Amino acid sequence: MGGTEVSSALDGLVAIVTGGASGIGAAIAARLHADGAHIAVLDRDTSGADAALAAFTADVSDRASVDAAVAAVAERFGRIDIVVNNAGVGAQGDISANDDDEWARVLSINVTGIARVTSAALPWLKRSPSASVCNTASIASTTGLPQRALYSASKGAVSALTRAMAADHLRDGIRVNAVNPGTADTPWVGRLLDSAADPAAERAALEARQPHGRLVSPEEVAAAVAYLVSPAAGSTTGTFIEVDGGMAQLRLRPAGS
Ligand SMILES: NC(=O)c1ccc[n+]([C@@H]2O[C@H](COP(=O)([O-])OP(=O)(O)OC[C@H]3O[C@@H](n4cnc5c(N)ncnc54)[C@H](O)[C@@H]3O)[C@@H](O)[C@H]2O)c1
Repeated sequence: MGGTEVSSALDGLVAIVTGGASGIGAAIAARLHADGAHIAVLDRDTSGADAALAAFTADVSDRASVDAAVAAVAERFGRIDIVVNNAGVGAQGDISANDDDEWARVLSINVTGIARVTSAALPWLKRSPSASVCNTASIASTTGLPQRALYSASKGAVSALTRAMAADHLRDGIRVNAVNPGTADTPWVGRLLDSAADPAAERAALEARQPHGRLVSPEEVAAAVAYLVSPAAGSTTGTFIEVDGGMAQLRLRPAGS
């Protein structure tokens, strides 16, 4: 974390991207690869992963599976410099909508999964000359959204965990940050739209909720991650970038008023 040279290149660095077989994670994997990193996609379903990238099957809610996959990454590449904790699942409804098993399942994937993957990679990160972690949080981390109680609790925890990890590992030379995407155009959101009574109206409502009037692209989130994990961000730790079309911070007047 100490270098003064500014570079966006990730040449020679090894990056784990969880949930890298779909959506935002796939875009992050592609972008970090284009920036010069060797990529290890970790996903419970690697069938959608880019065949040009190394893929390792792991369920982030299962510690043995995570430990085995991270060991396989280290064996394959001999180092781990970057961990992007992006795997996550959604949950809908208010505080009464999900039972205890579902609360435990979602928190185990979205929150504890970050602890499992990062702790397995920690000995390698400590040895890296350019170590960083980036967690995919959400607009739901900072903004109250309707019918997202469990999901929001999980993503608020991701934000708090990001800061705590940044404090714990600053002196290990490991930076830890997050991205907070707004509603992004991914297979996940596609599934949500498909299940709506009127998918076109639901999409229009989601687009209108974001001040820039459209969904976020996975590539836009990937660009923020690429910056945060790069040496160019050497003085940036314990914080997040909002990639949400202004949704968290802006209050526009209605168009034309
Ligand atoms: N799409 C959005 O609007 C949006 C907005 C804010 C935050 N996010 C966050 O971005 C991340 C990616 O979302 P996406 O929209 O790309 O979703 P997606 O469903 O397209 O991709 C998620 C990937 O994670 C993998 N995954 C899920 N559970 C896993 C597990 N237990 N172990 C390993 N892999 C697992 C899936 O197999 C899939 O490949 C999630 O953390 C999500 O909460 C998404």
